[in-house]
Amino acid sequence: MAARGILLASLLFFSCLAVTCYGIVLFSSLPSTLVVTASAKQGQVLKAGEDKIAVTWGLNQSLPAGVDSAYKTINLKLCYAPISQVDRAWRKTVDNLAKDKTCQFLIVSRPYDGSNKAVQSYEGTVERDVPTATYFVRAYAYNSDNVEVAYGQTTDSHKTTDLFQVQAISGRHVSLDIASACFSAFSVVSLIGFFVVEKRRAKQSQRK
Ligand SMILES: *[C@@H]1O[C@H](CO)[C@@H](O)[C@H](O)[C@H]1NC(C)=O
Repeated sequence: MAARGILLASLLFFSCLAVTCYGIVLFSSLPSTLVVTASAKQGQVLKAGEDKIAVTWGLNQSLPAGVDSAYKTINLKLCYAPISQVDRAWRKTVDNLAKDKTCQFLIVSRPYDGSNKAVQSYEGTVERDVPTATYFVRAYAYNSDNVEVAYGQTTDSHKTTDLFQVQAISGRHVSLDIASACFSAFSVVSLIGFFVVEKRRAKQSQRK
């Protein structure tokens, strides 16, 4: 009886272990086989909900044939650059992809086109819900089980090159508000200045 219990418990334990092991994909274990480029250049500012971004991706042609045999789907994502992750745990990079918060914004999901290996492309507007931050684009390749098997990104491995910015809609309103506040303050000040100058002139002409 006790032996059966132990057997059952260990069976359960190992099957759970197998499931979690299968489920965990580490980013550091993925090969970088995709070459990804974005239209947004280093330092460019894109307005969320307005500006377009074009992305191209393809298999690195210098890799041996068949390296992409398991690729079924490509997801293009907007990912936070390190500078926009500082002090923000909710954007943190974690090697376990299930917990990684680097790439939170899906640009598009496309079936992997193995017949057109050279270059595939997509152009779309930056989604309205993308917050103000510095980004790069990463492409993940998924197999038929929807598990990540490879990637490619527009920046280097240290995520320092070819970073661009997205300006959120709310952020733009804030800066517009600040600009209009500055203008009204300026007009009040100049109006007061105008009256002061006028009064002085009036006094001077009275004295004469
Ligand atoms: C393509 O792969 C080769 C060999 O692994 C590598 O040396 C090269 O840097 C890669 N090219 C790009 C653009 O990633």
